[in-house]
Amino acid sequence: MKVDETNRQGIVDSLKSDVIRHVFAFYDIQYDPEHTTMHAAFDNHALKGYILTYTVTTPWSVILDANSKSAEKLVTYAPENKFILHTPPDLLPIVKRKYPEAKCYVENWMLVRKGEASFLKSKMVRKLSVVDAVRLAELLSSQTNQQRREAKESEEWVRKNPTYGVFPDERLVSYASSFLQLPQVWMIGGVYTHPEFRNKGYATLATSVVTEDALNSAENAALFVGSDNHPAIRVYQKIGYKKIGERVWVDIGTGKAP
Ligand SMILES: CC(C)(COP(=O)(O)OP(=O)(O)OC[C@H]1O[C@@H](n2cnc3c(N)ncnc32)[C@H](O)[C@@H]1OP(=O)(O)O)[C@@H](O)C(=O)NCCC(=O)NCCS
Repeated sequence: MKVDETNRQGIVDSLKSDVIRHVFAFYDIQYDPEHTTMHAAFDNHALKGYILTYTVTTPWSVILDANSKSAEKLVTYAPENKFILHTPPDLLPIVKRKYPEAKCYVENWMLVRKGEASFLKSKMVRKLSVVDAVRLAELLSSQTNQQRREAKESEEWVRKNPTYGVFPDERLVSYASSFLQLPQVWMIGGVYTHPEFRNKGYATLATSVVTEDALNSAENAALFVGSDNHPAIRVYQKIGYKKIGERVWVDIGTGKAP
């Protein structure tokens, strides 16, 4: 069944039972319905799964979460274009049957609860504002395989997402953001340190401060990280994040890895 304004509230009520697991669906259908298409499966009026396409990201993000019987059917509602599909590992055989060429990357899902994080303080860290957009764009341009970033894009990012940066001097060398905020959970993302400034504790500082901001407002902070990204996993562990599950990033024809 397609989700629209007539049945949206019922779906939101079902997703509410596990906001952490369904964070993107819970957020997107309520706060960004015009960029979200969702099909849901029911059995005796109970929600058994959904597939959701979110069109703000480039490429589009698709989330498939269901029991395996419903997933077989739901996957037929995936878009035709290139996209990234996010799904629990147990649904991978169903996805691979439809997309045998897809590339898969396992991501660890990590979470820290209010009261369980260790925070680090430093005068080098401060919240970024729109005046830092040029510096953030410069930092992001140091990413490998990344075209030069425009300050306008960074300005938009900083305006929308609480973002903290590390300044050992005038230069911004590391940052961390939260890209989604709910009372139940803030999602943390966009954690990055300039290659010349790594292993100095800077990502830990930035992520610590954005996590503190998160846990002042929400019950949990959570994030996804590539299961082979050992430096990043170490950063999150130092702050108190623990692995709570896995999701698979399935690249359907985009060439994009996490
Ligand atoms: C992940 C990243 C942000 C870390 O930044 P950083 O400023 O170097 O991080 P920190 O110095 O705070 O901490 C790095 C930790 O990883 C450890 N580390 C480094 N390489 C490691 C490896 N191969 N295996 C395990 N641990 C490693 C460091 O020793 C340090 O831990 P320690 O303080 O216990 O010694 C940086 O590598 C980066 O920008 N990577 C590319 C973008 C990325 O992957 N972002 C995360 C997306 S989820």
